[in-house]
Amino acid sequence: MELENKIAVVTGVSKGIGKATVEALLQAGTKVVGWGRTAPHGIISNDFLFVPCDVRKVNDVAKAINITTDKWGEKIDILINNAGLGYFNLMEEITLMQWDEMFDTNVKGTFLCCKVILPLMKKNKFGHIINISSIAGTQGIPEGTAYCATKFAVRGFSQSLFKEARPHNVKVSCVYPGSVKTEFFKNYPTITTNDDMMKPEDIASSLIHILQTPENILPVDLELRPMKTKM
Ligand SMILES: NC(=O)c1ccc[n+]([C@@H]2O[C@H](COP(=O)([O-])OP(=O)(O)OC[C@H]3O[C@@H](n4cnc5c(N)ncnc54)[C@H](OP(=O)(O)O)[C@@H]3O)[C@@H](O)[C@H]2O)c1
Repeated sequence: MELENKIAVVTGVSKGIGKATVEALLQAGTKVVGWGRTAPHGIISNDFLFVPCDVRKVNDVAKAINITTDKWGEKIDILINNAGLGYFNLMEEITLMQWDEMFDTNVKGTFLCCKVILPLMKKNKFGHIINISSIAGTQGIPEGTAYCATKFAVRGFSQSLFKEARPHNVKVSCVYPGSVKTEFFKNYPTITTNDDMMKPEDIASSLIHILQTPENILPVDLELRPMKTKM
C-alpha cells in the first residue's frame, strides 16, 4: 500500500510501540488517529488526532469511531491494534482483576476495534488490520499464563479474521514481537529492560514494511526477535 494520505487508526499511542508507530506513519505521510487513554507527548501535526478511548469499553470505541469518521470520513485504510499490557506472576498469584484487565484490553479491545472498522473496510473493499500479539502468543512462558492466554487468543482471532477479510480485499496480519524496550516490563518483576532488546522504532519500521507490501501479497504472520538471545 502507498501510505501517503491514507487514514490510520492506532490504539494505545501514549508511549512504546504505539507512539513509535504513530511517528513512523506520520513520517510516511499518513493521517493518523490515535485511540487511547493517555495522549502522547510531543506529537504536533495537523495529520494527527488523539481520541480519548479505553479500548475495553464498547461506548468509548463507539464514540471514537464517530469522531474519527467525522474528521476524515468513512474510508479508514489501516487499523493497528496495539493497546495492551501484561502482568507476570505465578498463576495462583495472578488476581482476577489482572486477568480481566489483560483479557479486556488485549483480546476484547482488539475485537471491539475490529468490529467497528472492518465493516467500513469491507464496504470500501480495501484496508489492512495489524494485530500485535507477542512471542507469548506462540509459546508458553513461566509466570505468563494469563498474558500468554491473551496473546494466543489474539493469534487465533487474527488467523480466523484474515480468512474472513481476504475475499473483501482486506488484509489482516498478526505480529509477534519478542522483547521490546518499553514500559511494558513494569509489571514483570523478574525482567529488567536493556539495550539488547528491540526498540519500539524497530517494530514500527517492520509494521510500515508490512503495510507497504504490494496489493497481491498478504503478510499473515510476522515473528520479530532480538538478535541476541539472552536478556
Ligand atoms: N514490550 C514488549 O516486549 C512487547 C513484546 C511483545 C508484544 N508487546 C505488545 O505490544 C503492545 C504495546 O506494548 P508496549 O511494549 O509498547 O507497552 P507500553 O509502552 O506499556 O504501551 C502500552 C500502550 O497501551 C495503552 N493501553 C493500555 N491499556 C489500554 C486501554 N485499556 N485502552 C487504551 N490504551 C491502552 C497504554 O496507554 P496508557 O499510557 O494510558 O496506559 C500505552 O499507550 C502491547 O499489546 C504488548 O502486549 C510488547
